[in-house]
Amino acid sequence: MTDLGADLLLGRVLSFTADPFTAGPEAARQDEAVLIADGHVQAVGAADALRRAHPQARVTDYGDRLISAGFIDAHVHYPQTAIIASWGKRLIDWLNSYTFPEEMRFADPAYAAEVADRYLDLTLAHGTTSVCSYATIHPASVDALFTAAQARGQRLWTGKTCMDRNAPEGLRDTAQSAYDDSAALLAKWHGVDRLSYVVTPRFSPTSSPEQLEALGALWAANPGCLMQTHLSEQLDEIDWVKGLYPQARDYLDTYEAFGLLGRGGLYGHAIHLEDREKARLREMDASLIHCPTSNTFIGSGLFDMGGLKAAGHRIGLATDTGGGSSFSMLRTMAAAYEVGQLKGRPLHPAELWWLATQGSAQSLLADDRIGNIAPGMEADLVVIDLASTPAIAQATARASDLWQALFPTIMMGDDRAVHAVWIGGQQRLPGQS
Ligand code: GUN
Ligand code: ZN
Repeated sequence: MTDLGADLLLGRVLSFTADPFTAGPEAARQDEAVLIADGHVQAVGAADALRRAHPQARVTDYGDRLISAGFIDAHVHYPQTAIIASWGKRLIDWLNSYTFPEEMRFADPAYAAEVADRYLDLTLAHGTTSVCSYATIHPASVDALFTAAQARGQRLWTGKTCMDRNAPEGLRDTAQSAYDDSAALLAKWHGVDRLSYVVTPRFSPTSSPEQLEALGALWAANPGCLMQTHLSEQLDEIDWVKGLYPQARDYLDTYEAFGLLGRGGLYGHAIHLEDREKARLREMDASLIHCPTSNTFIGSGLFDMGGLKAAGHRIGLATDTGGGSSFSMLRTMAAAYEVGQLKGRPLHPAELWWLATQGSAQSLLADDRIGNIAPGMEADLVVIDLASTPAIAQATARASDLWQALFPTIMMGDDRAVHAVWIGGQQRLPGQS
């Protein structure tokens, strides 16, 4: 590395040396400066020392703003961008009334490209630097999001959403075409720049056993890929699954029986889990994705973060756009806090911030590259204004430590708190540098 082209960012640099759920808030570390070059973090430390050691680096002084790893949203549906905040339905009716008609529109590649751009602009404005998204059944909807992410230099995961039953005509593929289309997209995109393909059966009610088996075979043939699906979100859905798969021991078994349970498997929601399901998910080191704004908005239930983390589960945090009611990981942290309160386990600000960064990165098996600020990590950063509105500023003014200063932004913050975003060492917001 040469200092020419290096950036030295000054501010309150927040990083983690361990998981605060086990190590406590002391797992967080505060520094004064981060040096980035060649798309990566080169050094973290005291401002004076880094200035002296790297006199040619371009300095950006963010004052008392917080510099953090960018937020990572571990479960979203970018095609649902336009139907966010649709009123009054529970899961199955919500899918049929709002989601499926909107997803039909993605048969038009131009519409897919327009929404992909809009979605990534919105999430970037909210400080989210990486997402793991569902697309629609249309291969061009996968191309659209990968193309938009590639143009922005983002690390991003997505896959063709496979459904061969219980969905309208026009949104159904077959076991064979789901396999063939997914395999072709995987070959085209997986490992290109910072992009990764995800094998994506939507959930067991919309896949035949044959389709689940085909996708299990595809995952087995490509173990370096992630696999994403939904699990035990609503009680009506679980009853439906029992009726469709009478031989299954439980909901998870509908995936397990077809090779769709394993490390690198992402299970969205995972609210109403039976003991066997929890034990198997833990044993396989699978990832559970907590979607708190969605779980309250669609009326699904309360995720047991305290119990599942204590049992050692790998857990990420997500908006679940557009079942979730916000694009903001700050709003999502607030909802996770409130759900924790209703479960009798208030989450510490350090735990919330860790979930939205390193926890999500761990769930995507990518915590060696993103989700923290440390030498060698990819330089995806968000700069947060801790006094972004009068309401937040007056609460923060009384703070005597970092967590008191941060918590009003977690509970009341939104895109107004996002001062700057860096992706792969390039400033992407505000404007291009
Ligand atoms: N289960 C199956 N599909 C979906 C979806 O699009 N959103 C949510 N929240 N749950 C689902
Ligand atoms: Zn979902």
